[in-house]
Amino acid sequence: MKLYNDSKPFECDLTASKCIFWKFLPKPQYLYDKYPQVEGVKPLSEADLLPNKSFSSIVYDLPFIVSNGAMSKIKERFTHFESVEELYQANDEMLERSFRLLKKQGLLIVKTMDISHGNKQIWISDYVIRKAEELGLELIEKFILLSNLRLFARTHQQRVARKYHSYFFVFKKKSTAPLNKVKALLLDFDHTIFNTDADCEVRKNSKVKDWDLIFSKIPEYKLYDGWSEVFDDAKAKGIKIAIVSTAKKELIERTLKHFQLDCDVIIGWQRCYKKPNPKLVEMALNKLKVNKEDVISVGDDVVDKLMSDNGGVRFIGAIWDCEHEESIQELKQGTVLNSPTDLLSYI
Ligand SMILES: C[S@@+](CC[C@H](N)C(=O)[O-])C[C@H]1O[C@@H](n2cnc3c(N)ncnc32)[C@H](O)[C@@H]1O
Repeated sequence: MKLYNDSKPFECDLTASKCIFWKFLPKPQYLYDKYPQVEGVKPLSEADLLPNKSFSSIVYDLPFIVSNGAMSKIKERFTHFESVEELYQANDEMLERSFRLLKKQGLLIVKTMDISHGNKQIWISDYVIRKAEELGLELIEKFILLSNLRLFARTHQQRVARKYHSYFFVFKKKSTAPLNKVKALLLDFDHTIFNTDADCEVRKNSKVKDWDLIFSKIPEYKLYDGWSEVFDDAKAKGIKIAIVSTAKKELIERTLKHFQLDCDVIIGWQRCYKKPNPKLVEMALNKLKVNKEDVISVGDDVVDKLMSDNGGVRFIGAIWDCEHEESIQELKQGTVLNSPTDLLSYI
């Protein structure tokens, strides 16, 4: 509360139980539990009727013990799950519920711990972090609560480390919609991947183009620092890359070859379609065999943004060498990358 909530009480506890947490602390105003046990705590089903974005802070503390069959009576349900699957499922549901109920920038505090069950290690804390991040919750803090360090079992044969610590994770709901797992990148060519000013005179300013002369300028192009790393990382993760440009396809192919870069699809200059026509996005998606929700498009020009918006794909501006000064201001209205490697955090 002190560090992350301006010393204010949290607003809602979704697993209030007997409110042991709040014995020496100000209680949240809204208390729920799947199995309410004390006055003032409402059934969790009521929380599910609340509208989206109802709270600015939520706490939950699910059971972490998986019983071995002997403890399946109803009274044990407050503290035990019957199977590991149920433990995962309860965390999934609670994260999804919390995400729905949280306002943008809202805080979620999750108490959890890892366990060993049978011969298996159940890293539920790592699972919670992964799942939360997928939903659009950013981990901003881990408080680790240590208990008496009884690392060695006296009574039975020990096979794995005993787990006598638990976590209080602090997540913040991100302000942008969560991304699907990115499956492909649509990249602009000029001034996004390469500075191609070396051929400016011959390529952009002449009507009849001397292609041999233009191709001879390729070694003078500049590949912006960081792209090799991004291409390698994308390849390692199975993320496809398409280049969507008004430049001639052969020029792009030759340039990539010269700079030893690989991509999956090139949509070059088209007679019928010019940026910002979304047909270009559609052509790239069809060739890549991916859906528009799974794609990030990157470009340095407002026309790239327009094309992406028209095509329904998420756009991020590349502002390291915008050809047109006014583009920078326009792109800065949305998400931008200051260098190609900034893209790594999105993929
Ligand atoms: C460890 S207790 C919470 C203790 C609480 N923090 C306190 O201060 O007293 C776990 C709570 O989770 C609730 N619970 C158990 N299974 C659940 C499930 N599948 N979904 C939601 N809540 C559940 C139980 O009713 C129980 O009150």
